Amino acid sequence: MKKYLVIGNPIEHSLSPKLHNYWLNKNQVDGNYDKKLLTDEKVGEFLKLSQNISGINVTVPFKKTVLNYCTELTELASISQSVNTIIFSNEKIIGDNTDIYGFEQSLKDLNFNGLNKTAYILGAGGVVSSIVIALNNLGIKKIVISNRTKNKAEALAKQYNLVVLDWGKVVDFDIVINCTSIGLKPNDNLALDFSNFKNKIFYDIIYKPKTEFLIDAEASGNQIIDGKMMFLYQAQKSFEIWHGIKPEINKEVIDLLND
Ligand code: ATR
Repeated sequence: MKKYLVIGNPIEHSLSPKLHNYWLNKNQVDGNYDKKLLTDEKVGEFLKLSQNISGINVTVPFKKTVLNYCTELTELASISQSVNTIIFSNEKIIGDNTDIYGFEQSLKDLNFNGLNKTAYILGAGGVVSSIVIALNNLGIKKIVISNRTKNKAEALAKQYNLVVLDWGKVVDFDIVINCTSIGLKPNDNLALDFSNFKNKIFYDIIYKPKTEFLIDAEASGNQIIDGKMMFLYQAQKSFEIWHGIKPEINKEVIDLLND
């Protein structure tokens, strides 16, 4: 039986095992998917000793850490400098990125077109480079980024040609994406004033719980998108890479995440 798992910290909340095991079963693939809590210092050692594992998903905060231990990177992992999927093949540790696909596909489903649109990104963590690349693929005109620690936003801005805004300020936008971890804990609040915005798109990459950011935006008459479909699409692409089968995303699968 082939072994797969997701590494992260924290990892207890991850729904990847539930989803992948469901698909493994549905598609009659002889495999098992588990989760593993690691610390930063343990990541390298763990990957080097993972010869009996066929694939790994990587989540917060190790998407950049694992770059140091991959022996090869795919084009997407290389341009984003972010790895969320690892393939073990003939002694090689190959880092790949399916977050770009996940985010892009979730917006394509809604017929989003970036033409003449401005995106406003909150946060500058490991997933942001993937979001930026996906938005560029969708033809976005301008991307503004803001992060509490400004130099992280500035580094991304330099690399991807973004505009930096001081944390706490708000600009006009067509779509705003919360990529911070604020909202993961109940009653977490971004403390940014979006009350004047209406008919915009508010996207939160967090999929559980429904964040205050989305609750308030919806009440003000905006379109809201949570991270559920991005999560499902990145997982679907990882599954396809490992097993050569594109698993189905249907109501039953979506309901798995709601339980
Ligand atoms: P990492 O930076 O390790 O990739 P992440 O969880 O992907 O971690 O990113 C966390 C993001 O949420 C960061 O942009 C972080 O801002 P800093 O770079 O200033 O740390 C942001 N964040 C987390 N808690 C926050 C808070 N209370 N206020 C504002 N931003 C916060």
